[in-house]
Amino acid sequence: MGEALGGLKRTLMCGEVRENNVSQKITLMGWVQRNRKLGGLQFIDLRDRTGIMQIVFGEAINAEAFEKAKDVRPEYCIAVTGEVVLREAPNHNMPTGLVELKCESLKILSESDTPPIYIKEGLDAAESIRLKYRYLDLRRPDMQRIFMIRNRISKSVRDYLDDNNFLEVETPMLTKSTPEGARDYLVPSRNYPGMFYALPQSPQIFKQLLMVSGFDRYYQIVKCFRDEDLRANRQPEFTQIDLEMSFVEQEDVIKMNEGLIAHVFKEVAGVDVKLPIKRMTFKDAMEKYGSDKPDLRFEMEITNITEDVKDMDFVVFKSAIEAGGSVRALCLKGGADLGRKPIDKLGEFVKTYKAKGLAWIQLKEDGVKSSIAKFLTDDVTNSIVKTMGAEVGDAIFIVADKNSVVFQSLGALRLELAKQFDLIKDKNEFNFTWITEFPLFEYDEEEGRYHAAHHPFTSPMDEDLDMLETNPGEVRSKAYDLVLNGEELGGGSIRIHDSNLQQRMFKALGFTEESAQERFGFLIDAFKFGPPPHGGLAFGLDRMVMFLAGTENIKDVITFPKNQNAYCYLSEAPNIADEKQLQELGISINVKEK
Ligand code: AMO
Ligand code: AMP
Repeated sequence: MGEALGGLKRTLMCGEVRENNVSQKITLMGWVQRNRKLGGLQFIDLRDRTGIMQIVFGEAINAEAFEKAKDVRPEYCIAVTGEVVLREAPNHNMPTGLVELKCESLKILSESDTPPIYIKEGLDAAESIRLKYRYLDLRRPDMQRIFMIRNRISKSVRDYLDDNNFLEVETPMLTKSTPEGARDYLVPSRNYPGMFYALPQSPQIFKQLLMVSGFDRYYQIVKCFRDEDLRANRQPEFTQIDLEMSFVEQEDVIKMNEGLIAHVFKEVAGVDVKLPIKRMTFKDAMEKYGSDKPDLRFEMEITNITEDVKDMDFVVFKSAIEAGGSVRALCLKGGADLGRKPIDKLGEFVKTYKAKGLAWIQLKEDGVKSSIAKFLTDDVTNSIVKTMGAEVGDAIFIVADKNSVVFQSLGALRLELAKQFDLIKDKNEFNFTWITEFPLFEYDEEEGRYHAAHHPFTSPMDEDLDMLETNPGEVRSKAYDLVLNGEELGGGSIRIHDSNLQQRMFKALGFTEESAQERFGFLIDAFKFGPPPHGGLAFGLDRMVMFLAGTENIKDVITFPKNQNAYCYLSEAPNIADEKQLQELGISINVKEK
């Protein structure tokens, strides 16, 4: 049964009703949170996006509505009309708790089966069920709150960028592969059987073309698609706040985006972001924190103790140093009392980051205890302790290896120690840092060649241009990331606008003229027609929402997300295609069913 509205109009939202509405006749519409009998009365909690309002039904108020109300079950969709009165027993815990609506007329707009998940704040149902019935999951007030925050973020982004003369412009979804380093999602073409569009990993090339077109300042809140291993902060389709500016240098882009961040955080959360945001070079970030997205909410820097240990008679350290690596360490305040078991666990932990072991020194009240005691002299111990600034009561954790392994494992250990020992004191802090001077290239050991660390249009730093051919590994770029609490919130770069330099870059990346032309020909061609100096950046909108909504799972901030295997429980995508569709596309399937 579902009654029609029949001209009935909603006059207020459930969460809006207050004392000043007392004695007004109003109409509310929404879903039944619960329905209970008390004395001779029937009480329904009615819910909509704005909150919950108590509706009371009684023989003496309206007999027909009272009778009807008895059969109403949770999640029925109803409309109620009646007078607002003060409650005899006020509830000070809810915004509408001082008033109730005496129902004179009830319409059951539609009935509901018993929902497979209980719709309430802070629900803890299995993810597969929540995602299968996502539309019900999204009825929960805490989920709706997240999407209200998301809405306010995009609105304040648009306001700020509009005030700064950015044009919101769309770019194609059916396009050619974009070089952001992930696998593409491909879409087969019917017009050109055997050919594929790629969904954009980002609008990178198109936004650069718009600069060539003279659009001057572009932005877009845009879906991007990347087929990569999913994590807590990654989804196969996600949203970027993507922007690009002409006639700018790195400082200009950074300044504009700091302004954007400060505006959004103030508007949405009332947070004052202190400007300018601090900066750190990639090299410093790696050396001190073992990461290009350091979490700076707690201290504990990685310290180089190579000099202190270089004469030790310990083959592990010696061989690491001789091979051009280093020995570095972390100091855990109060770690001297840690038992063997937790320490061994930390040793296992660093092994997942390719470290071969974790040496440790505990500075106990009654002396030094260490896994490398037999190799330590008093002099060496004292020297390490001094370099580390360690004190009695502390523990020192040491990794020796090539630098990349030392940084990665100690960087991860640093975060693990913070988690285990609760080193992040202010959970509400928003700690921003720009990371600058990224390497232009990354060396791929498996393939034995260089990749673009950001993408192949990123400009090298002027100071390092000479090394492009001779020493590519050392060339720094005009790329920058904005890091917040140890997560990459956004990243961008100043682009190459000089076609000679672009050719050199392609060459360094191992492209021949033909292969570069084949992949990026349309951009190379466009750059023959007076491209302006330009640069830009993209923020992960989903990640921004995660921070401002205080959730650690990206699925919470996406209406209909995929699971860790990029599967949608709700629509059951991906799925098989009709034989006819496949034929039209010239596709035959060559996979055994799983
Ligand atoms: P980048 O690849 O760094 O830069 O992406 C920009 C930001 O997008 C977010 N992000 C993601 N969020 C959720 N799920 C994912 N799978 C995912 N991948 C990336 C991150 C990241 O910082 N075209 C360049 C930008 C530019 O140079 O202007 C780009 O796409 O928050
Ligand atoms: P061993 O002499 O092999 O028992 O090693 C002594 C200590 O050195 C143990 O605590 C090991 O975990 C540690 N260790 C082994 N390899 C490394 C390494 N590459 N870096 C730091 N410590 C290591």
